[in-house]
Amino acid sequence: MSDAVGGEAGPLESATPRDVRDVRGRVLRDLRISVTDRCNFRCSYCMPRSVFGPGFRFLPADEILSFEEIARVARVFVSLGVHKLRLTGGEPLLRRDLPQLIRLLPQGPGIDLALTTHGSRLAPLAGELVRAGLRRVTVSLDSLDDAVFQHMNDAQVPVAHVLEGIERAAAAGLEIKINAVIRRGVNDAGLLDLVRRFKGSGQILRLIEFMDVGSTNGWERGDVVSAREMLERIQAVFPLEPAAPNYTGEVAQRYRFSDGSGELGIIASVTQPFCGDCSRGRLSAIGSFYTCLFASDGHDLRALLRGGASDDELRASVEARWQARRDAYSELRGRPLQLGRRPKIEMSFIGG
Ligand code: GTP
Ligand code: 5AD
Ligand code: SF4
Ligand code: SF4
Repeated sequence: MSDAVGGEAGPLESATPRDVRDVRGRVLRDLRISVTDRCNFRCSYCMPRSVFGPGFRFLPADEILSFEEIARVARVFVSLGVHKLRLTGGEPLLRRDLPQLIRLLPQGPGIDLALTTHGSRLAPLAGELVRAGLRRVTVSLDSLDDAVFQHMNDAQVPVAHVLEGIERAAAAGLEIKINAVIRRGVNDAGLLDLVRRFKGSGQILRLIEFMDVGSTNGWERGDVVSAREMLERIQAVFPLEPAAPNYTGEVAQRYRFSDGSGELGIIASVTQPFCGDCSRGRLSAIGSFYTCLFASDGHDLRALLRGGASDDELRASVEARWQARRDAYSELRGRPLQLGRRPKIEMSFIGG
């Protein structure tokens, strides 16, 4: 990877963070950092093999931010009030020496650092991730049925690899959430099996409505199983009660099992958009800053980083971009005139 761009670590870390708000008054609180656009899965809803086949050109190594560059950007965001950092991909555990990045990132009180992974390589890495300072992971697992799961990941990875990763992560002391994207006619028949498997495990399952991210996943409204339908199906077997959000802007709606065996979450971005208090910014692996998961254009922070900008200049640039933000894609879905026609970024590029 290319190398260290200095940065002003000390003063930035000790400065009091200041809040930055967008046009709608939404504060910047989360930064989701994609560390690679590569993945060894080919989930049909994210990296269909027909598009991401052998001829697909992934980002070249010298275009990707170094760990030092990522850490510097993260410190700038923390100085602007961000306190949630999430590493994503593609598949972040494919990035060599990822624990080293975790060591360089802002950590400690007030910083919530998490990682989203498909889990197939989690087992051997869990211990080292914890030693580097990671406290929690979110593992994507769409089905417990091997045939369905392998059909979805299109990479012949069995469920057992992911379950082993989850077990090893739990044994290493990581807090765990499980994300399942539910697509009608593909894996929705296994919804209750997922609920049953994780109920009472201490690992929080979140069921996600299938979204129209990017331009290649063949999304159709009929594929979406609504949060309401998911809840009805679950309630018929496992009674649930709504629970209050853990924090403003939480993506998942929380429900508690009435028998006291824990909770689950539903992420209803299609049928109940949560743009109103969206506090999430996203950094691509090449250092572009996006203010929405469904954006078309990013703001090139790498040019500033590699062009010798100071931390103050980086901060001012991020701040100006966020202050101009109007994004509300999920609220406007279905109103093409207001959304424009330019292609959206792909999920694998920006990490969900
Ligand atoms: P916690 O920090 O554990 O609460 O996680 P989170 O709620 O941030 O959830 P996670 O990062 O696991 O995101 C879960 C899924 O929700 C993602 O994979 C996306 O599918 C969806 N999602 C997350 N953020 C957004 C967002 O800003 N907009 C939309 N439309 N969907 C989102
Ligand atoms: N709709 C909803 N969630 C998606 N994810 C990937 N593609 C989609 C989509 N089209 C989820 C993955 C993973 C996270 C990175 O995003 O399952 O949990
Ligand atoms: Fe890979 Fe995750 Fe996309 Fe599946 S959803 S192809 S695991 S990045
Ligand atoms: Fe935030 Fe965009 Fe998602 Fe709305 S669609 S919640 S603005 S990332």
